[in-house]
Amino acid sequence: MTRDITEQIAKLKEEKNAMILAHNYQLPEIQDIADYVGDSLELARISQGIEQNTILLCGVYFMAEITKILNPDKLVLMPDQHAGCPMANMITPDQLSVEKKSHPEAAVMCYVNSNADVKALSDVCCTSANGMKVAQAVSEDEILFIPDQYLGSYIASRLANKKFNLWPGYCPTHMVFSKEELLKLKGKYPGAKIIAHPECRLDVQDIADRICSTSQMIKYAQENEAKQFIICTELGMLHRLKKENPSKEFIPGSPNAICPNMKLTTVEKIMWSLERDEYKIEVEEGIRKRALRSIERMLEIK
Ligand code: 13P
Ligand code: SF4
Repeated sequence: MTRDITEQIAKLKEEKNAMILAHNYQLPEIQDIADYVGDSLELARISQGIEQNTILLCGVYFMAEITKILNPDKLVLMPDQHAGCPMANMITPDQLSVEKKSHPEAAVMCYVNSNADVKALSDVCCTSANGMKVAQAVSEDEILFIPDQYLGSYIASRLANKKFNLWPGYCPTHMVFSKEELLKLKGKYPGAKIIAHPECRLDVQDIADRICSTSQMIKYAQENEAKQFIICTELGMLHRLKKENPSKEFIPGSPNAICPNMKLTTVEKIMWSLERDEYKIEVEEGIRKRALRSIERMLEIK
């Protein structure tokens, strides 16, 4: 990255009274210029109290949509409008409506990796950081969990008192981790702890020492006495893990764990986005109000 671009972004941020939020999977140079870097829950929580008029979200579409839903009167921008999440597109409102009819007694619990029109038909949202807490707070005995079958299974296997119906969505990026490869890595680094995101397949979850959200991985690595950690999530996570734990070693669980959508954002596009006020995120007001309810219910659970 040239100094020119960094300086230009800083200047534009001041002129436009803008704040830059970035997800943990963003490119290192983006994380380094962002005002705030976090997981999906942290990005949603920080979006609740922003003073600036313009918020530029570096992540994927549903993250920018949540920020807009929480800030309808602010300008919410994304540097690349094609940065979507394939898992979010694995369930449509029509499909959810049909599924709800098959489970009329179930509460709909929706992973935030979903589109606003699907959130609008859901009772409560959750993220990988708070899925257990949210499910425990749901008063119904039955839950229809959408769209990630693996996060859903993770929660369901630890909550025996509720019946779970899981939608068969998944994250293509997290499918690249395999138990066989991880056992080989364990052979090479016998003292290493395996940290996995709950979007990983169940055989990967089974051999993990810790299953948690991206930001929770940083805390676990800080607090655990191990010196080496095998990381089963998108490779962008390694930047913060290394930066915040310089004395520890982080080994990727797979060299192929790249989310192509997260990598669509670049510093050049951030500069362009701030210069042109593009791309503006809009959410239709009826959908926004209904989606807001399910997001706020989640954010009320501490
Ligand atoms: P986190 O909320 O844990 O950061 O996860 C978001 C995501 O998209 C994982 O693939
Ligand atoms: Fe979606 Fe997977 Fe990318 Fe996360 S890593 S944004 S779940 S495709």
